[in-house]
Amino acid sequence: MSAPEKGLLNLVPFVSVDHMMRIVWAIGVERMITELAAYIEEDFLRWELFDKTPRIAAHSAEGVIELMPTSDGATYGFKYVNGHPKNVSEGLQTVTAFGVLSHVDSGYPMLISEMTILTALRTAATSALAGKLLAPRGAETMAIIGAGAQCEFQALAFKALCGIETVRLYDIDPAATQKAARNLSGQGIGIVSCPTSQEAILGAEIVTTCTADKRRATILTDNMIGAGVHINAIGGDSPGKTELHRDILLRSGIFVEYAPQTRIEGEIQQLDPDYPVTELWQVIAGKASGRRNEREITLFDGVGFAIEDFSALRYIRDQLLGTGHFVNLDLLADPDDPRDLFGMLLRARDQ
Ligand SMILES: NC(=O)c1ccc[n+]([C@@H]2O[C@H](COP(=O)([O-])OP(=O)(O)OC[C@H]3O[C@@H](n4cnc5c(N)ncnc54)[C@H](O)[C@@H]3O)[C@@H](O)[C@H]2O)c1
Repeated sequence: MSAPEKGLLNLVPFVSVDHMMRIVWAIGVERMITELAAYIEEDFLRWELFDKTPRIAAHSAEGVIELMPTSDGATYGFKYVNGHPKNVSEGLQTVTAFGVLSHVDSGYPMLISEMTILTALRTAATSALAGKLLAPRGAETMAIIGAGAQCEFQALAFKALCGIETVRLYDIDPAATQKAARNLSGQGIGIVSCPTSQEAILGAEIVTTCTADKRRATILTDNMIGAGVHINAIGGDSPGKTELHRDILLRSGIFVEYAPQTRIEGEIQQLDPDYPVTELWQVIAGKASGRRNEREITLFDGVGFAIEDFSALRYIRDQLLGTGHFVNLDLLADPDDPRDLFGMLLRARDQ
């Protein structure tokens, strides 16, 4: 990515929530998720180039605030994200986020963006990318347990990338199920609202769990998952916050983003620290096999990794000129003499 333009060194493009929504509708939801998945795939193929670290988490009784940094050597990116399951009951979102991309050579930021909507899009893109590699061939039906903010994005991603035709919805709160069913009507996907999770999983070749609860929940028990099912578990993403019964893990081929982070945060925190898992990038790069046979249960234990956010920010930056949906923020002090920062302050007083 190019260096900052001389003469406009103070300005950094900023993509607000309003801009992001305009970008999404200019491109189309399914096309954007498909293109995001391609950017993520491209970066996963460069996996070894990236600085990688488990995200830096600040835990409290109510939730977590996390920083997710990475760099490919030329561009640096980070996301600030929170996870507070009790927020919804107070009229706040469980997950909010924003992120930054910077030039590694100067350290100057090149983009600031909202990432609450972008996180939902990139999470769905990553899930469906994993689904494309791991779900049984010809899968047509997906169950989604948890019909909150992520739900509709997940449904449309699996429609676009995996050819899912029907989604069976269940949420512990019927109002959430109704909301998702309403939002997904007219989107070219069949919707079945279900009164229980047991009913939701009937006939589903793919089961997505995206519930929010700050504890070891058991959204799926062992007897609910039959041979050949692909599980896309994204709601267990913090220490002490899981969704699957441990016995399901022991019957599954387990795929993760970045094992050192997932062992802390994912479903596999329930297993021994050396339990064998496969990183998704290895399957994409042809270094490991995905689904081995029709009867295998595959599990994508998704927690969200910094490279996906880097890819998403990289994608948004590439859309800026085409869509024009951004403003320039006067973010960086830019004195004529770089050492005369105080002089710039004095001149501002005297203007
Ligand atoms: N893996 C990732 O990359 C990633 C990204 C974003 C969010 N997440 C996680 O995904 C989860 C969902 O996020 P969200 O933004 O949609 O949250 P949300 O709060 O908007 O929605 C969660 C939904 O789960 C429902 N729920 C809670 N317990 C349930 C149960 N036992 N059975 C059925 N439904 C239940 C709630 O009623 C709510 O509607 C969160 O845990 C979040 O931390 C993961």
